[in-house]
Amino acid sequence: MKTLIRLFSVLFTTGFLITACEGPMGPAGTNGADANATCTQCHNSAGVDSVSTQFAYSKHAYGEANFEEVGSTGCAPCHESEGFKYVVKNNVSTVFTIVPPATTYSNPYASSPDKSYGPMQCSMCHDNLHTTYTFADFMPLTTTAAVPMTFFGGTKTIDLTQDYSKSNLCAKCHQPRPLTNSNTDKNVMNYAGLVSNPNAVFYDAAQSSSLNVLKPSYRTSTHNGTTAAIFAGIGGVEFGTGYSNSQHTTVASCQDCHMAPMSGKAGGHTFNAQGNFNGCNVAGCHAANPISSSTTTTYWKQTRDGVKAQLDQLAAKLQERGIDILGRNGDATANLWAGLTTNNYDGNLNIYDPVNNPAGPTYNTTLFQNPSTTGFTADQIATNSALPKLTLTNAQMGAIINFQLCLRDFSLGIHNKAYTTTLLANSLAVLP
Ligand code: HEC
Ligand code: HEC
Ligand code: HEC
Ligand code: HEC
Ligand code: HEC
Repeated sequence: MKTLIRLFSVLFTTGFLITACEGPMGPAGTNGADANATCTQCHNSAGVDSVSTQFAYSKHAYGEANFEEVGSTGCAPCHESEGFKYVVKNNVSTVFTIVPPATTYSNPYASSPDKSYGPMQCSMCHDNLHTTYTFADFMPLTTTAAVPMTFFGGTKTIDLTQDYSKSNLCAKCHQPRPLTNSNTDKNVMNYAGLVSNPNAVFYDAAQSSSLNVLKPSYRTSTHNGTTAAIFAGIGGVEFGTGYSNSQHTTVASCQDCHMAPMSGKAGGHTFNAQGNFNGCNVAGCHAANPISSSTTTTYWKQTRDGVKAQLDQLAAKLQERGIDILGRNGDATANLWAGLTTNNYDGNLNIYDPVNNPAGPTYNTTLFQNPSTTGFTADQIATNSALPKLTLTNAQMGAIINFQLCLRDFSLGIHNKAYTTTLLANSLAVLP
């Protein structure tokens, strides 16, 4: 990307000098010819037009979640461009608080109702566009500030300072969401408590619900975008010891790999890294021993096969009374992580839920009973009562969270091999 950008910059700078000689710059309307020249600094086939062409292949542009989540203040910080700019501008806190008259905690990380919309477009990340009407409007990016993690209710912070901290822009959205106590104070889950007391009961359907901290559901999870937590090596339920990070954590930026020079439909403003090794094979990184998808070295295939095997093993060890607690779905249109594990796990839980998961279990024939039957028909309530009741230890709950984080990181260890492999190995070790 750097070379490409430099090339753009040269083109744009040249354009800038020419327009500067022609007369004062200003927005359209002051002087037709000059304004037009100003505009063409960016609006030309090598500039905005070319980047827009790449951006069409970005899921930020073609993904549908921003249409689906319009108006939802809790989803907007990461799914709606105006919502994102709102939480950045107002520095909205991620620390859970009790807001009277409520007596329980709530998560303040949300946009405002009148700012919870907006497709993901150029101005989401370049929020100065059309202010000075010069190329300089592309920078600075909307934010590069350190990211207090919503997953931890703000007690831990991601700060990727390499490459002018540009990765923090991505981390602000590509971070997991918190698990919250559903039955007690509604605070963020005490993940450290899972580590310090692994064999204690976390959930027992037979127990009175006031003793259970969280009511597990089909959707109890870290949400989908866990990458930055794994990449930074901050985010797991850290059983055991031996944690460290791969070089990537401090040396590589998201942009280095995800905005590398184009190859196929990856690179540049597609933000896609799939099948594009241009970012890996640069001087100072892997130029000496170039990486490709067919490379069988430790840097690609062995790493990915190893992490896949660990995920498979952890899922197998989480089987409870013959029931696989982890959901499977081989349909790649419904499961973003289909193919990453042998059984096509999707990170959801195998708990009966005809409302949110009407297709039911695609592969597993048996499910656990759902502790909540809101919205169920009488028949569904009867079906639910006949199912086995779930119990989970702290170790199992922590292992489920770590499984979700590492599966949904998607890279199978490429982002941060050292952290991923230790997190999974220690999760395996803590399970009886
Ligand atoms: C700093 C670079 C830059 C300059 C200078 C610039 N634009 Fe833009 N403009 C953009 C970008 C980026 C977009 C969004 C393109 C996209 O969404 O594909 C845009 C979009 C537009 C649009 C489409 C409507 C919209 O808001 O998406 C219009 C119209 C427009 N610009 C007019 C102008 C005019 C007129 C000028 C000169 C007075 C100008 N621009 C100068 C970068 C620039
Ligand atoms: C405002 C929040 C936000 C920011 C900032 C952001 N992303 Fe995203 N990104 C998303 C969301 C949400 C999706 C999924 C969109 C959908 O499916 O509708 C996504 C999708 C992606 C995907 C495709 C994932 C897939 O499943 O195919 C990649 C790759 C990606 N982003 C990388 C990046 C990188 C690299 C950066 C930083 C340069 C970045 N993103 C910045 C929110 C963001
Ligand atoms: C902290 C940021 C964040 C918040 C808050 C958030 N999401 Fe997401 N969400 C993401 C990211 C990042 C992705 C893309 C993950 C990927 O593909 O790697 C995503 C993906 C999704 C997807 C999958 C889209 C697809 O391509 O299939 C859905 C659906 C979704 N989110 C719904 C929601 C809903 C509903 C809410 C609010 C209740 C919400 N999200 C809140 C960051 C967030
Ligand atoms: C998800 C965030 C994101 C979105 C959306 C986005 N960009 Fe960017 N853009 C970046 C980042 C990050 C960089 C810096 C890349 C680097 O340093 O390698 C960048 C760099 C650029 C540059 C080079 C600026 C310079 O000073 O060198 C241009 C031009 C640009 N973007 C245009 C666009 C246009 C046009 C769009 C919309 C079609 C767009 N961007 C959408 C994140 C984004
Ligand atoms: C060392 C290179 C590298 C760095 C640095 C990197 N990634 Fe990745 N990323 C990858 C690779 C490789 C994949 C998996 C691509 C594949 O499966 O072919 C990936 C996958 C992803 C995906 C899922 C993409 C998809 O197609 O579904 C997202 C989202 C993502 N990365 C975001 C990020 C973010 C955010 C950062 C910075 C915090 C980052 N990445 C840093 C190489 C990198």
